[in-house]
Amino acid sequence: MTAMTKDKSQHFCSTVKCQCLVLLLTAGCVAAAVCVALLSTAVRGRMPPDMEWWQTTIIYQIYPRSFMDSNNDGIGDIRGIISKLDHFTYLNVKAIWISPVYESPMKDFGYDISNFTNVSPIFGNLTDMANLTEEAHKRGLKVILDFVPNHSSNLHMWFNESVKRTPRYKDYYVWRDGIAGPNGTHSPPNNWLSVFKNSAWEWNEERKQYYYHAFLKEQPDLNYRNPALVEEMQNALRFWLERGVDGFRIDALPYLFEVTNTSWNEPKSNRTDLDPTQYDYLTHPYTQNLMDDMYKVLAGWRDVLDEYENLDEKRRFMVVEAYTKTTAEKIAWYKSAADMPFYFGLLNINKACGGSCIRDIVDEAYKDLPANAWANFVFGNHDNRRVSTKKGPEFVNALNMLLLTLKGTPTTYYGEEIGMLDVNITYNQSVDPQGKVYNESVFLKYSRDPERSPMQWSNDTMAGFTNSTTSWLPVGSNYRTINVETEKDAEGFSTIKLYRTLAKLREEPPFRYGLFKTAVVNNNTYSYLRHAFDFPQYLIAINFGSSTDTSDYTKAPVNAERGVVVANTGNVNATYNVNSNVDLSRITLNSAEGLVIKIINAP
Ligand code: GLC
Repeated sequence: MTAMTKDKSQHFCSTVKCQCLVLLLTAGCVAAAVCVALLSTAVRGRMPPDMEWWQTTIIYQIYPRSFMDSNNDGIGDIRGIISKLDHFTYLNVKAIWISPVYESPMKDFGYDISNFTNVSPIFGNLTDMANLTEEAHKRGLKVILDFVPNHSSNLHMWFNESVKRTPRYKDYYVWRDGIAGPNGTHSPPNNWLSVFKNSAWEWNEERKQYYYHAFLKEQPDLNYRNPALVEEMQNALRFWLERGVDGFRIDALPYLFEVTNTSWNEPKSNRTDLDPTQYDYLTHPYTQNLMDDMYKVLAGWRDVLDEYENLDEKRRFMVVEAYTKTTAEKIAWYKSAADMPFYFGLLNINKACGGSCIRDIVDEAYKDLPANAWANFVFGNHDNRRVSTKKGPEFVNALNMLLLTLKGTPTTYYGEEIGMLDVNITYNQSVDPQGKVYNESVFLKYSRDPERSPMQWSNDTMAGFTNSTTSWLPVGSNYRTINVETEKDAEGFSTIKLYRTLAKLREEPPFRYGLFKTAVVNNNTYSYLRHAFDFPQYLIAINFGSSTDTSDYTKAPVNAERGVVVANTGNVNATYNVNSNVDLSRITLNSAEGLVIKIINAP
């Protein structure tokens, strides 16, 4: 400030009283202006929605055994995850979901838990977990834990005590007498089957009763008709909420309840391709989706989450694993106290699924959503083959473009951001119990090992996943080209760079909360418009077919002639470079080519 202006200002208003008055008047005017702007926007119904953190982030699933190994035993661990947290900052991902790291005999690789409030030494310890949440939070990353309520391990202390009929634990599990046969023999109470094949009932010689297990016999089902057990599991949630976790992915929820009348056999599905020991040989009206019972348990969990939310007003998130078959089932889960059920429709993408097929799957996600319900999309997880393999590696970028530009929360399974593929597994290398129950000729149809291979970090030996010479599952043979480091360092286009660009773009209102309107769709191409208020509009057009498609995009809902490419799928010989100006009346997309185009509105 010059001496002159200083003098002037002193002359104009030099007393404290006067300065206060000016301040008040200025603040008042600014506040009034803001109010008028907000009100006029609100009057026009154009307020951006209030959004929760889980609606604005990408959820990234970490399968801990396969993410990063810090102690060179060939198995990923918590310290490994901590060492890679900057990966998420790079990607613009704001939430990680970590598959189970609890104490476990690892019959189902962590989904058989022998202590819900401790960590397996394979993965680390409670201090490591505390460090993980602290380091994640420092980077603005939310931490979602897998919560596995349906069953425990048979090595859990509760099961041991239940076998002995110790009063407190006697009814922690689902026990039934067998059906008596001749000469003191007995058979299971009914025909119910395990998801992993064969009877869902296992005889326990010590207790002289059968127990029910929807999954492995080493995973006895917990009894949610026992209030003491319900409370016990609520306390497990509290344990982790106390330690700062931001939410839970709830495992296998549809299996939580069975009818109490175990004399009811489940009906046949009439699937002639299956043998009578396979789960889908039957339908499951008595052992799946008993929604009224489930709603109560979920409401109890929500109350627990609210205890913590009420302290700091930060939403504690709950997402449910439920493979819904109908719109009605999907809606039923949305009506529960969970924030949302995962929508698994995109898992059905295969080679033959082109533009209109993908449109149908996406439309189903949005269909009949209750008011305020939020859609979400999943490509893969530790139970399903990678979509990159199902659809074909040439579609990796097109698929990520789809996932990250739809309206709703995307979930990325580790490795999707670099285009990882399923790995080839021999019978001897395979470890997944779901595959191992079959013989060598068919195990691959069921084994989940191919999608669980180690994360490919670099082109070092073992893909930079471990310093050991072996890993629990083999590293993909393509790791020298498909890996984080090489893709980050690439001169031009790379899969990870596209992922990052799109993740950043998602932060713009049209993608974050804007409307979603389907545009041109045919057997090859799927396209849609994203727009919000007066923000620039975006057209996303992707060719999921096997041949070239030329279409005119100028009609509704686009209603424009030209646009600018802001992202492409980096195809060799691509016609449309980033920043190039395109004529919307004639866009030609090769197979597996996709574009994000910012619409230029006519002046
Ligand atoms: C869920 C998990 C799966 C596990 C099963 C039993 O479906 O995603 O991996 O095997 O539950 O816990």
